[in-house]
Amino acid sequence: MNGLPPGSVIGILGGGQLGRMTALAAYPLGYQVHIFSPEEGPATQVTPLRTLAQYEDEDALARFADSVHAVTYEFENVPSATAEFLAARVPVRPGPNALAICQHRVREKQFLNDAGVGTTRWGAALSAADVARWVSEFGAPCVLKTSRFGYDGKGQTIVRSVDDAARAWTVVSHGRDGVECIVEAFVDFSMEASVVVARGVRGDVASFDLVENIHRDHILNRTIAPARVTEDVAAQADAIAHTVINALDYVGVLGIEMFVGRDGRVLVNELAPRPHNSGHWTQNGCVTSQFEQTVRAVMGLPLGSPRRLADAEMFNLIGDDVLRVPELLTDPNNHVHLYGKAEWRPGRKMGHVNRLRF
Ligand SMILES: Nc1ncnc2c1ncn2[C@@H]1O[C@H](COP(=O)(O)OP(=O)(O)OP(=O)(O)O)[C@@H](O)[C@H]1O
Ligand SMILES: [Mg+2]
Repeated sequence: MNGLPPGSVIGILGGGQLGRMTALAAYPLGYQVHIFSPEEGPATQVTPLRTLAQYEDEDALARFADSVHAVTYEFENVPSATAEFLAARVPVRPGPNALAICQHRVREKQFLNDAGVGTTRWGAALSAADVARWVSEFGAPCVLKTSRFGYDGKGQTIVRSVDDAARAWTVVSHGRDGVECIVEAFVDFSMEASVVVARGVRGDVASFDLVENIHRDHILNRTIAPARVTEDVAAQADAIAHTVINALDYVGVLGIEMFVGRDGRVLVNELAPRPHNSGHWTQNGCVTSQFEQTVRAVMGLPLGSPRRLADAEMFNLIGDDVLRVPELLTDPNNHVHLYGKAEWRPGRKMGHVNRLRF
């Protein structure tokens, strides 16, 4: 099988910057791109084909399915019913099952542990009493997170003691019992790291180098490629990436967020079923970018080489950082990527810079 021929259409659910960069990587391979999004955004600026509709709009989804040859998504909070509706009509990659696992923290941790992949100790919680029980079992501090719809550290809080459980529950659940949450033992990590890994329709796997991630205000601030770790840590991370992507029977690009423990053990924090912010450096630092790799996987082409051509540092342009672009452009090793967002707001990801080191 040679994959979908040039002229075929890749459908992308979501209109944000990841969709924009995936779309921009699809055109050199001769593909057309159709964005499905509730509203205009960074991605719809670069594609003539778009459907502006709600993810629950089955008429719009059916028309979209008829007009594309494969579908992927650029963020994981697409309703699973939407992915299933589309998958009955057109290949959806990664499939609805992988999406369902990655968009629910309890299911995700259970899946990882069942696959033999280490995580921090965790327990499912539906009430403040559940939280208190897990905190007393794991010891404080713990992290309480909603199982669904968290991003950039939203929907989570640290539980400082058993007595803090009620406050933490109110913050995260807004006081409603039955909201699905997870309690995680706090990881005393020496580094946050991640692997972006791809799997093609024939089961071929290609992983980019392990990278090191530095967060600020719960938002990824900086990625350093490759991560400054021992060979053993890099090998553990790569083995985990292969195990996870094969166990998910995945087609597409997967971001795997990890903690490197002070004991040198690698634990998985969470999975992102799409290109990942920590993989942006591959646009300029690798033979194949994570976005081209997404297109190759989803359209059934052979994967490209993930080989690193240069060491790199990626930093996000958040809020008014974007005002520094003219100055950043004076460094010849900087590649500036802006997302076309009209106005900056505090905390808003406006773009990123890949700075290569030769
Ligand atoms: N169990 C934990 N122990 C220690 N720190 C944690 C733990 N869970 C999360 N964190 C910290 O909080 C950050 C955000 O957590 P997580 O990745 O689970 O949430 P998120 O909202 O999906 O974030 P993002 O969208 O940035 O990936 C992590 O990158 C890490 O710094
Ligand atoms: Mg995260």
